[in-house]
Amino acid sequence: MLTLGIETSCDDTGVAIIRDEREVLCELLSSQIKDHSRFGGVIPEFAARKHLENLLPLVDAALNECSIRGQDLNLIAVTRGPGLMGSLIVGVMTARALSQSWNVPLIGVNHLEGHLFAPLVDAEDLEPPFLSLIVSGGHTEIICVHEFGKYELLGETRDDAAGEAYDKAARILGLKYPGGPEIDKLARAGDPYAFDFPIPLRNTHEVEFSFSGLKTALLWQVKKFENDGVNIPMNDLCASFQRAVTEALMSKVNLAVRITGIKRVSASGGVSANSALREALSSAKGFRVWLPKLNRCTDNAVMIAMAGRNAWKRGEVCGDVMPNPSLHDL
Ligand code: KG4
Ligand code: ZN
Repeated sequence: MLTLGIETSCDDTGVAIIRDEREVLCELLSSQIKDHSRFGGVIPEFAARKHLENLLPLVDAALNECSIRGQDLNLIAVTRGPGLMGSLIVGVMTARALSQSWNVPLIGVNHLEGHLFAPLVDAEDLEPPFLSLIVSGGHTEIICVHEFGKYELLGETRDDAAGEAYDKAARILGLKYPGGPEIDKLARAGDPYAFDFPIPLRNTHEVEFSFSGLKTALLWQVKKFENDGVNIPMNDLCASFQRAVTEALMSKVNLAVRITGIKRVSASGGVSANSALREALSSAKGFRVWLPKLNRCTDNAVMIAMAGRNAWKRGEVCGDVMPNPSLHDL
């Protein structure tokens, strides 16, 4: 069974073809990071126009790479939300047109369910029930996967998402967008204990996150250095900020394990590429961890193809798929 995955929820145009459950035949990604970084963030209208330019050539390239025709596909899986409206429209409408002209069934995928599947691509031994930490630019949450298709939200952020916090912190520090990878890089040469940033909500008994106070703490620290006229110790600030985010995430992963008794944890989303978080999760005691490959932490179409294929197997109906930017519940 051949599934074409299409991802256009934000600023990455992704196309992938998988065979059966998870065999990746081809994965292509056209990143717009360079186009947007000069603006310091994603410009939605510009992102939509770039998807329009990039998507069909990528689909053609994927089919050529696999030596198959569109009509040979058995399923098209496309991200229907959450995400940027303009970007989603391009992906969904293109997928609808391809589905009709090739007579191939179409299924809409929740972008968060896509992220949830990213670690599963290379992990046949990860089976429900397990806990899924989704940490992206737009979301930070822990989901209990009772079975595929049956998800329970254990808790989420009260304000900023972890990726958003990294991006805003980077902006405060004058670093380029996206900020997560930049902070991760600079943190390597810094002391994570140089600054004692607050670890948000660390001691509450709820699975919940908050990152806006941490960002403000960083802002005041930077202002203090500026007012004193001294050089900003970038490496130490990045390392200390990163430690605070990582400890906040880890405290709630540990809490979720304790509450549910489930000792299998996966992480996904852009921030799961963060080296400190990967290290903390990999060395954690009391539960086993599955992480996606680095290129599948951020948005990609393999995870969408796999999630769509799994939903199709579960009997989810294919049909008219509409973009839904505020879609949330899994
Ligand atoms: O999952 P993703 O590609 O897009 C969304 O669905 O939001 O995540 C993008 C986010 C950005 O905020 C980016 O700064 C963050 O993931 N990110 C990182 C790292 N790589 C990407 N954050 C921390 N460390 C990284 N290495
Ligand atoms: Zn994403």
